[in-house]
Amino acid sequence: MAVKNTMATAEQIKSLIKSSFQDDKERLLTVALQVAAHEARQGHVLLAHEIRSIVDSAKSSVKVIPFKQDLSDLVCLSKSRYTLSDLILSQELKIRLERVFEEYNHQDKLRSHGLENRRKILLAGNPGTGKTMTAGVIAHTLHLPFYAIQVDKLITKFMGETSTKLRQIFEVIKNNKGVFLFDEFDAIGMDRGVENDVGEMKRVLNSFLQFIEQDESNSIIVAATNNLQSLDQALFRRFDDTLLYRLPSAEEAAKLIDNRLGLYKGRMNVKKVISNFHNLSHAEITQACDDAIKICILSNSKKVSSSLLNTSLTERQSAYKSSV
Ligand SMILES: Nc1ncnc2c1ncn2[C@@H]1O[C@H](COP(=O)(O)OP(=O)(O)O)[C@@H](O)[C@H]1O
Ligand SMILES: [Mg+2]
Repeated sequence: MAVKNTMATAEQIKSLIKSSFQDDKERLLTVALQVAAHEARQGHVLLAHEIRSIVDSAKSSVKVIPFKQDLSDLVCLSKSRYTLSDLILSQELKIRLERVFEEYNHQDKLRSHGLENRRKILLAGNPGTGKTMTAGVIAHTLHLPFYAIQVDKLITKFMGETSTKLRQIFEVIKNNKGVFLFDEFDAIGMDRGVENDVGEMKRVLNSFLQFIEQDESNSIIVAATNNLQSLDQALFRRFDDTLLYRLPSAEEAAKLIDNRLGLYKGRMNVKKVISNFHNLSHAEITQACDDAIKICILSNSKKVSSSLLNTSLTERQSAYKSSV
């Protein structure tokens, strides 16, 4: 028992030996950091520190060969169903987004003046207000491939392994021009299932932010979060722009319904219907519209009536209330 607690685990030792024989330096560094983390948890601070120093000096002499392993489970090529005209945003957000496009399209001009286009964007705010959607729309508008990072798969029990994965992802970002979305990225710092101590989780989030800060690629990096409050203010400085998403105003909600109902919208007064509803997100309103359209189709009618829309919205609103 004592042996088990005071030494690196058998798995780690085997892994160290194997990666050394297989000349897999990336893996070797990862496991070495795992051992350091393990020792730190046992209170062997000095040993942990020494191992980390060995790794640090080795790292500076190692030329890391990127992507030995398959990254397809971490970085997924996605497709956006939406275009800019589908996205209902406040005037303020529209202007901010247009500026991202404008600067991207004139990056050479900016560069000739020693400036860079804004391309590290933080999207924050209520769930269901279009953050994930926006990332896809950016890719679509700029004719760039859209990649979603599987943030949940990024987190492992071991800080070293997570850092390795992050490093690999940022290599991909450098070598492939595209829009890269870290959706609900705050999970990086807060995963409750991970046994790590708080300090270590903070380190993971910090190293993520450092990667963002150091990134000099031509890609657009989008990080999205629903939990603005829980995030450190220092974080905002790492991004070129922060876009705050809010629930739709009555006018935006009406426009969203107009868009979504399309040909199914009869002569109803949408503004009047929506005036009875508050605190519904874009996503919930969209769902209510789809619910109404489905009922309409299945009952062989051609138009959604205001009472049907009202019923669907009420259903979504009460679902919201009962979950609060
Ligand atoms: N601002 C918006 N304009 C139009 N549709 C929206 C908007 N926000 C959300 N939606 C609809 O709700 C769905 C879910 O939104 P999503 O982008 O996932 O929200 P978030 O990422 O902010 O939680 C979208 O696929 C879209 O159908
Ligand atoms: Mg989202």
